[in-house]
Amino acid sequence: MTTPGAERKLILMDVDTGVDDALAIMLAHRAPNAQVVAIGTVTGNVSSAQAATNTLKTLDALGADTPVAVGAARAIAREPLPPGNVHGADGLGDANLPAPGHAPTGEHAVDQLLRLVHERPGELSLFASGPLTNLGLALQRDPELPRLVKEVMVMGGAIIAAGNVTPTAEFNIYCDPEAADLVFAADWPVTLVALDVTMRALLRSEQLATLRASERPLARFTMRILPPYLALYSQRFGSEAVTMHDPLAMGLLLDPSLALERARLDTRVETAGELTTGMTVADRRPLIGPGYDQPTHPLDIPLEVDAPRFIAMLMDALLS
Ligand code: RIB
Ligand code: CA
Repeated sequence: MTTPGAERKLILMDVDTGVDDALAIMLAHRAPNAQVVAIGTVTGNVSSAQAATNTLKTLDALGADTPVAVGAARAIAREPLPPGNVHGADGLGDANLPAPGHAPTGEHAVDQLLRLVHERPGELSLFASGPLTNLGLALQRDPELPRLVKEVMVMGGAIIAAGNVTPTAEFNIYCDPEAADLVFAADWPVTLVALDVTMRALLRSEQLATLRASERPLARFTMRILPPYLALYSQRFGSEAVTMHDPLAMGLLLDPSLALERARLDTRVETAGELTTGMTVADRRPLIGPGYDQPTHPLDIPLEVDAPRFIAMLMDALLS
């Protein structure tokens, strides 16, 4: 359910599939005003290779043959984090899904990204819902990249909200702060969908009951992969509820009118702090004196979203 007449988006996704990445992939593929041109994977929730397998399983549920390219196995300047259990050991809810019917293309995700933006200059919307390693590597290899991209949508960071890995850092940014700082500092239009809004975009018991009762393929796939992710967030919230981090970022890409309040904030990433590495440092100073650093890297940051309308959009896709 997107705003009628919203412009058609050509989307290149970069994911660390994960349960919520899978829901974002499904939302994008069911959107009437979008085409997912290709998908790249990056190490984050799971290895980039496992993320590719999980992405291909999700595409099987969609009946889609979108190209999938495996990307960076490790961050630009850091070792991968130890595997977590937020998304299950395999990153897709340990749902014992059948092996995917397609294989990755064999092209590296960074090569895929750079090839496509040169083939379709100015047309592609980049969507990143994992660590920003592939985008950072692409910027290092091709300084022309910002000029060749229409827009960049990033799920990551925390502006006023607490982090979810450390008190100050959100997972995607924390995994590769150097890459994130390259992405934020580049001269292209970046929208940063941070925990400040994603922690309030929840599937709750009502929606979950609807999905459980549905025979629709994407609803059944969702309820197969959701359990570990749902259990962890329900424990955190004290009632049955689960956050839709990556799907909300996709919803905002598909329909920017979902943002009810936005700010343009100069935002950089801490890469050396003992307590704050991975923190997204947004400049919210009300006045900036002439003698102080002036904003140089404004990002578009949604601060309030129409969560009910977004959840309705997501449910439409999962029940389609
Ligand atoms: O912090 C939430 C983000 O980290 C989401 O993209 C989730 O999939 C993990 O990658
Ligand atoms: Ca993700």
